[in-house]
Amino acid sequence: MSVATASIRTARRVDRFTYAIRNIVGEAKKVEAGGTPVRYLNIGDPNQFGFTTPPHLIAAVERAMRGGHNGYTSSAGILEAREAVAADFNDRGVAVHPDRVLITSGTSEGLELALTALVDDGDAVLVPSPTYPLYTAVLAKIGAVPQYYRTDHTNHWLPDVAHLTSQITSKTRVLVIIDPNNPTGAIYPDDVRRQLIDVAEQHGLVILADEVYGDLAYDGPVAPMATLNSDAAIISYSSLSKAYLAPGWRAGWMAIGSTARLDGALAAIKKLADGRLCSPGPMQYAVPAALRGDRSHQVSFRNELRTRAHLTAERLNAIDGMSCVAPRGAFYAMPKVELPSGTTDADYVLALLRTTGILCVYGSGFGTAPQDGFFRVVFLASPAELSVIYDDLAAFTNDYLA
Ligand SMILES: Cc1ncc(COP(=O)(O)O)c(C=O)c1O
Repeated sequence: MSVATASIRTARRVDRFTYAIRNIVGEAKKVEAGGTPVRYLNIGDPNQFGFTTPPHLIAAVERAMRGGHNGYTSSAGILEAREAVAADFNDRGVAVHPDRVLITSGTSEGLELALTALVDDGDAVLVPSPTYPLYTAVLAKIGAVPQYYRTDHTNHWLPDVAHLTSQITSKTRVLVIIDPNNPTGAIYPDDVRRQLIDVAEQHGLVILADEVYGDLAYDGPVAPMATLNSDAAIISYSSLSKAYLAPGWRAGWMAIGSTARLDGALAAIKKLADGRLCSPGPMQYAVPAALRGDRSHQVSFRNELRTRAHLTAERLNAIDGMSCVAPRGAFYAMPKVELPSGTTDADYVLALLRTTGILCVYGSGFGTAPQDGFFRVVFLASPAELSVIYDDLAAFTNDYLA
């Protein structure tokens, strides 16, 4: 009997799928193997920088596990969690019924379920530039096309609504809005949010409102988009990952707007959700504990983030050839370096990594043009550590641009 020796072929869709935030770690491992310690400013995981999950959430998960809640749940998630999500939306001014809530494996699964349910092969989706790269990665997987709309670093990284509108074609189905924003740290004022809703409504688009950083605006929680127009076709999602400091639990939720126009979308999302059985069961018990319990950790977390954001903008703006819009929420900044002509953002980021061990992610991983010189910094390290990192980054950049 002959035995096959050729390597197993992989699907072409994998070639289209990129996720720079983790892809770049391979380069960092090589630098580490060469003896240079790496300072990881690539992944937005607060737990890796000493921020800890609130104990009452851990207690809720432990109680669930010890209480025997280790089986599958219904695919939409346990009723207590869905009711808590609905009640939280109601407290924030949006009427949401628990039947229109699904508990998901993080925001990530919510956005993948929504895009898969709404967008056909060849359809188009408006995503911000720069964007959180999971959107374009999922679009690549399902054979859909991203239409980048500009967000403008000379205008606080706000969306350029005229540019966005000019991108819309008969193929456009969905408008993705990330507010507060990763990677820019922007927060959109209500007049801009209203314009975005109006454009979506005029063109029959569904808004996917990524509100995972909604509670991490430094001046206090941002109201959900749906508060501005309860009849608009808005699907909103969030999770315990960021504002509740439990990213590894993969516990999140999505709420499908109450307009009857979304009834078909709700049914389609539930149908797809049946196929993945459920999100992790015991972690679902942390959702009511989080949304109905003590949130005082968010006050101190926001203050910690504000201090780091201020330090980051101040120190990066002091570097010749670099500018940085001050973030107003979350834990990311998107500085711009005036690159020597013929070089790219990836050249700069890789040289920075190899010379100093500082790992950032190049802007083109988020959809900006490689020659524009943007890169993303995660500023969760302590102010003292960040200060040393920014000294090294400044010295490197002076040499690089000399
Ligand atoms: C804008 C945005 N959406 C979604 C996610 C994924 O979050 P989750 O852990 O809830 O899946 C992230 C994670 O960094 C994010 O920044």
